[in-house]
Amino acid sequence: MTPRIQRWQRVFEREISDRLDSNDCSLATLKEAMRYAGLAGGKRMRPLLVYASGESLGTDPDQLHGIACAVEVIHTYSLIHDDLPAMDDDDLRRGRASCHKAFDEATAILAGDALQALAFEILATDANLSTNPEGQLSIIASIASACGASGMAVGQALDLAAIDQHITLGELEIMHRLKTGALIRVSATAPAQFASAGPELCDKLARYGDCVGLAFQIHDDILDVTASSQQTGKPARADAARNKPAFPTVIGIDASKARAAELCRMAVDELEGFPGDTSVLHWLAAFAINRES
Ligand code: IPE
Ligand code: IPE
Ligand code: MG
Ligand code: MG
Ligand code: MG
Repeated sequence: MTPRIQRWQRVFEREISDRLDSNDCSLATLKEAMRYAGLAGGKRMRPLLVYASGESLGTDPDQLHGIACAVEVIHTYSLIHDDLPAMDDDDLRRGRASCHKAFDEATAILAGDALQALAFEILATDANLSTNPEGQLSIIASIASACGASGMAVGQALDLAAIDQHITLGELEIMHRLKTGALIRVSATAPAQFASAGPELCDKLARYGDCVGLAFQIHDDILDVTASSQQTGKPARADAARNKPAFPTVIGIDASKARAAELCRMAVDELEGFPGDTSVLHWLAAFAINRES
């Protein structure tokens, strides 16, 4: 990991902590639950994609904290809800008790709701984004569609509907692109909307994000089978325990790794012709499929 990535991570932790602190919540437990889930570590892959994508376009990453915090806050909400008994029913997240275990189910549901709303408040009020009102509005629309009924939410619904079912590889890829890929893709494309980049660069970043997003979830499925719970900070072999179709069960581990590697190559192939530095985008594509947690 380069010192630049480490610096972005450090700055990001301060930025997200400030935003989780400044929201005006009159109930200490709810605010605590939001901070518990939001400040529990995590790889911060989506914010890093935001900064890296900005850098590839020649945009100062320090202008992108609002977008970075918004996508991570949405991701955090999705993890809280994903772990609930009604969904994956997992008690461990980021190496500690899942939000509904540390607090209670109602608090976890409401912390998720509040985090999702906070993301859009951040986007609508961010001073840097407000310098480009047209870009700001299109970012809000894109992120809403990436996490809503045409993105993550429907992907999660398909994931639950697939329990105990046989699904095809094509159906699995659609589900993964929706439940995980959509938010990763928009993390790569939102900086282009802010920079008012031309359609060619926007399309390249969209294809890059699409490939990285799918590869990221394939690797998550692989780690579910091959990694320990200590390594990932979440229960091991959870997909098989709930009889969920995942990449290793549908096509096997080796073919899953090969597909993830192919997607990583396709992502990197998109990184020609950018005005800025694409080295962190290269690094993140490799990280999506080589990470150990
Ligand atoms: C886990 O996401 C859920 C998926 C969408 C695969 P991450 O692997 O990014 O989780 P954290 O944020 O690092 O904990
Ligand atoms: C999660 O997929 C996708 C989300 C939108 C949160 P998983 O259910 O596989 O994620 P983990 O393995 O619990 O982190
Ligand atoms: Mg899930
Ligand atoms: Mg899960
Ligand atoms: Mg998983």
